Amino acid sequence: MADDHRDNATGVRRLGFGVSGPHASPLIRPETTVEMIHLAYALGIRLFDTGPAYGAGEGERRLGEALARIPTFDPIVATKVGILPGRGKNRARDFSPDGVRRSVEGSLKRLRRSRIDWLFLHGPAPHELTDKLIKTLGDLQREGRVVSLGVCGRGPELDIALQTGEFTHFMAPVNVGLTPEDMERLYRLRSAGELIGIETLAAAHPRFPWPRTAGSAWRLARSLMGWSSQRPPTPMMPDEALCWALGEGGAHRVVTTTSNREHLEANVLAVTNCGRGGLITG
Ligand SMILES: NC(=O)c1ccc[n+]([C@@H]2O[C@H](COP(=O)([O-])OP(=O)(O)OC[C@H]3O[C@@H](n4cnc5c(N)ncnc54)[C@H](OP(=O)(O)O)[C@@H]3O)[C@@H](O)[C@H]2O)c1
Repeated sequence: MADDHRDNATGVRRLGFGVSGPHASPLIRPETTVEMIHLAYALGIRLFDTGPAYGAGEGERRLGEALARIPTFDPIVATKVGILPGRGKNRARDFSPDGVRRSVEGSLKRLRRSRIDWLFLHGPAPHELTDKLIKTLGDLQREGRVVSLGVCGRGPELDIALQTGEFTHFMAPVNVGLTPEDMERLYRLRSAGELIGIETLAAAHPRFPWPRTAGSAWRLARSLMGWSSQRPPTPMMPDEALCWALGEGGAHRVVTTTSNREHLEANVLAVTNCGRGGLITG
């Protein structure tokens, strides 16, 4: 069963802010990331996603720092396990029960929290979804370290995770570049739990952008290094891409990241206005 967060989100609450990429790197100063998180919060965003693999925990540290200065406990904090800090597509992985426990304890310290609201397996291969792993995740929930369990992926591993019946949150690319097979999978996922869209804006941009902002510089570097897992981009304006994901794409929420305050404000406005003024409705 999904938890209380499912489907409750409306308006700006359907947008999450990702603390990853340039926000976990020297391209952006920690204080600037903290300011962006505070702006996101002030604009009504309550879902914040990060992971220990982002900048070797730097994303989690910055999010922890920012949230410690917000005097409420209503944000949803999502982080991940399974991919170890490192570079590129060949980063080491650890989905072993001990590795997952160590990872969660490290995340809790960096995030300065006593529990993780949504814990995602970060791109597990199907064979990594073992009974021992599932049992450890259940134990972490019973111990109160984790509230809800999720899987972040883009292929058959999501189907296998769904079959276990243990996961309530599914994070996957949601954009117009998906195949009919992907779309059928998204439909199954959203019928079973909460579907959180990613790569919604990244897929709407050129793969080799002019490095105008820290975010576009980051994407350009990833593409040049061959680390980008994105499919070829599909031309769409950011507001259309967001509303498509939350409408036809079937996402309950979308997590995006940006290094640019105006982009953040535009994304909030777009999500708030989805379904009005001729944009695709959900
Ligand atoms: N992609 C993955 O593999 C993955 C995996 C797990 C979780 N996630 C989560 O998903 C989050 C989002 O990452 P994503 O890869 O899916 O990227 P995305 O949010 O779809 O796209 C981010 C890019 O879009 C640009 N952008 C944002 N708003 C814009 C606007 N209004 N106009 C023009 N450009 C805009 C940003 O550049 P500017 O800085 O210039 O705005 C940035 O380069 C991550 O932070 C993470 O929390 C992603």
